[in-house]
Amino acid sequence: MTDTTREITLTVNGTEETLEVEPRTLLVHALRDHLDYTGSKVGCESSLCGACTVHVDGMAVKSCTMLAVRADGADVTTVEGLADGDELHPLQRAFREEHGLQCGYCTPGMMLTALSLLEENPDPTRTEIRNALKGNVCRCTGYHNIVDAIQRAGELMTTGETEASGAD
Ligand code: FES
Ligand code: FES
Repeated sequence: MTDTTREITLTVNGTEETLEVEPRTLLVHALRDHLDYTGSKVGCESSLCGACTVHVDGMAVKSCTMLAVRADGADVTTVEGLADGDELHPLQRAFREEHGLQCGYCTPGMMLTALSLLEENPDPTRTEIRNALKGNVCRCTGYHNIVDAIQRAGELMTTGETEASGAD
C-alpha cells in the first residue's frame, strides 16, 4: 500500500478479495481491472447506460457511480456469479431462449437489474419490466425480447425448473 492507495476487501461472487485501489477508483474499474471480473461493462461512466450494473449487498448499483473504497467490506455480485457451476441462472437461460441479446454489451447489466426486479416481484407485467429497465440502455434489440426473457426468467425462478428438468 502506498500513500495514495487504500487496501479494501470485497466479497465478489462469494470469494473474498483484498486489493489496493486509489481513493478515486470506481467500483467498476476495481472489479474489471484489479480483479478481472470483466463481465460488467463500461459504457457511459456517467450513470446513464446501466452496462456496469452489479449488486452491492443485494441492491442493484451502477458500479461506475460508486467509489471502490465505499464498497469496502461489501458483498458484490457480478454476472459471473449468476451461474451455479455449469447450471445457468434462469435469467441466463431465458435470455438465451428468448434471444434477449444481440451484441451482448448491455446484457450483464440487464440481468443484474432484472434480478433485483424478480427478487421483489417474480411475476412482473411487461410495463413493470420496462419501468425497471429505464436505467439500462440497449442499442441493438429494441427491448422486446429482453422483456420476454425477463418474464420467462420469472417463470423459471418461480417453478424452480432447471436446465436438466426442463424441456429444452
Ligand atoms: Fe455505468 Fe453507463 S457505465 S451507467
Ligand atoms: Fe447490444 Fe443490448 S444487445 S446493446
